[in-house]
Amino acid sequence: MKIFVTGHNGYIGAHLIGLLKAKGYEVSGCDINLYEGCAWEDYKKPDHELIKDVREISEEDLKGHDAVMHLAALSNDPMGDINEELTYQINLEGSVRLAELAKKAGVSRFLFASSCSIYGKGAKLDMDENDPVNPLTAYATSKIESEKRIGALADEHFSPVFLRNATAYGYSPMLRIDLVVNNLLACAVSKGNIAIKSDGSPWRPLIHCKDIAHAFVALAEAPQDKMHNKIINIGANSENYQVRDVADQVQKLLPEAEIVYTGEVGEDPRNYKVNFDLLYSLLPDFKLEYDLKKGMQELYDKLLEHKFSADDFDGDQFVRLRTLAKRLNLIQSS
Ligand SMILES: NC(=O)c1ccc[n+]([C@@H]2O[C@H](COP(=O)([O-])OP(=O)(O)OC[C@H]3O[C@@H](n4cnc5c(N)ncnc54)[C@H](O)[C@@H]3O)[C@@H](O)[C@H]2O)c1
Repeated sequence: MKIFVTGHNGYIGAHLIGLLKAKGYEVSGCDINLYEGCAWEDYKKPDHELIKDVREISEEDLKGHDAVMHLAALSNDPMGDINEELTYQINLEGSVRLAELAKKAGVSRFLFASSCSIYGKGAKLDMDENDPVNPLTAYATSKIESEKRIGALADEHFSPVFLRNATAYGYSPMLRIDLVVNNLLACAVSKGNIAIKSDGSPWRPLIHCKDIAHAFVALAEAPQDKMHNKIINIGANSENYQVRDVADQVQKLLPEAEIVYTGEVGEDPRNYKVNFDLLYSLLPDFKLEYDLKKGMQELYDKLLEHKFSADDFDGDQFVRLRTLAKRLNLIQSS
C-alpha cells in the first residue's frame, strides 16, 4: 500500500509514520511544519516529504496513492480563539478540498482525523456515533462539518472513514503538554503541584496518541466495504475518566504533589463520556496498547529522563497555541 499522510510532523503523525514504515508501506508526508524546532526526540520520516500547506496540495501530489490519512489541522479547541476563520479555512475547507482531489486522483480510501470533542456537552453519559452532536468551538464545528461534506462524496470509488478520536495523551517525540493528562503530569513533575483549571468534574474519553496511530493503520487495512463511509469513535469504554481521576493517577506517581483547583475556567462546559462499541464490533481484534496507568508511567519516565523543567512547562515548545501565535504568518498568506 502507498499512503499519503498529512500532518506527519505532529504529535500523532510522528508515531504514525513509524508504524506505517514498520509495516513496509511506502509513505508520503505533507506538513507545513508549524512546529518546526519543537521536537522532543528524533522520529521516523516518510519516504517522500512535501513541506507545504494542505490547502495547496495538487491532484498530481496524490496520484498513485491507495489511501490518504488526513491529520493536518489547527489541532485543539482553543485554537479557534486565535483565529476562527483560519480554523475553518484549514480544518474544514482545506479538508473538503483535499478529499475532492483525492477522489479525482483515484485514491479510494480517505481516513479523516475527527474528534470526540464534537460531543461537547454530551446530552447523556454514553455518547455513541448516532447521538446528536453539540460542538462548542470552531474546532469542533470544523470537524463535524468536514464529516458531513466529505461523507457526501462517498461512492463506489471513494470510501471515507471518520475517526472520532478521544483526547490524546502520552509520550510522542513531538510531545504536546496542552492536553489534559500531559498537562497535569508535566505540571506535577516540573512545578510540584497538579493544577486543575476546571472543577475537576468533566468527563473525557482518553487514548494514547500511539493508539490513535494504531487505529489509523487498522482501519486502512480492514476490508474497504466494511468501513465505507463509517463514523467511528476511537478509544475504549474503560478509558473514560473525570479530570479529577486523572489528577488522582498523577498523585499516585508523585504522592508529594498537591492537587490545586485554580478556578481559571470555572465550570468546563465540555463534558462527554463516550461509547466505543462500534470500533470493537467492526474490528474485533483491535486492542489498545495502553491504558491510562501504563501511558502515564511511560511519559513520567520520559519527563524525568529529559529533566523536564518549569521553563519547559512555561515555554512555547510543547504548547501548540503559544507556538502557533508566533507562526501565523506561515498559514495566513495562503
Ligand atoms: N491530540 C488530540 O487529542 C486529538 C484528539 C482528536 C483528534 N485529533 C486530531 O488529530 C489530528 C492530529 O492531531 P495532533 O495532536 O497530532 O496535532 P498537532 O498540532 O501536533 O499536529 C498537526 C500537524 O499538522 C500540521 N498542519 C497544521 N496546519 C497545516 C496546514 N495548513 N498545512 C499543512 N500542515 C499543517 C502542523 O504543522 C502539525 O505538524 C488533528 O486533525 C486533530 O484535530 C487530535
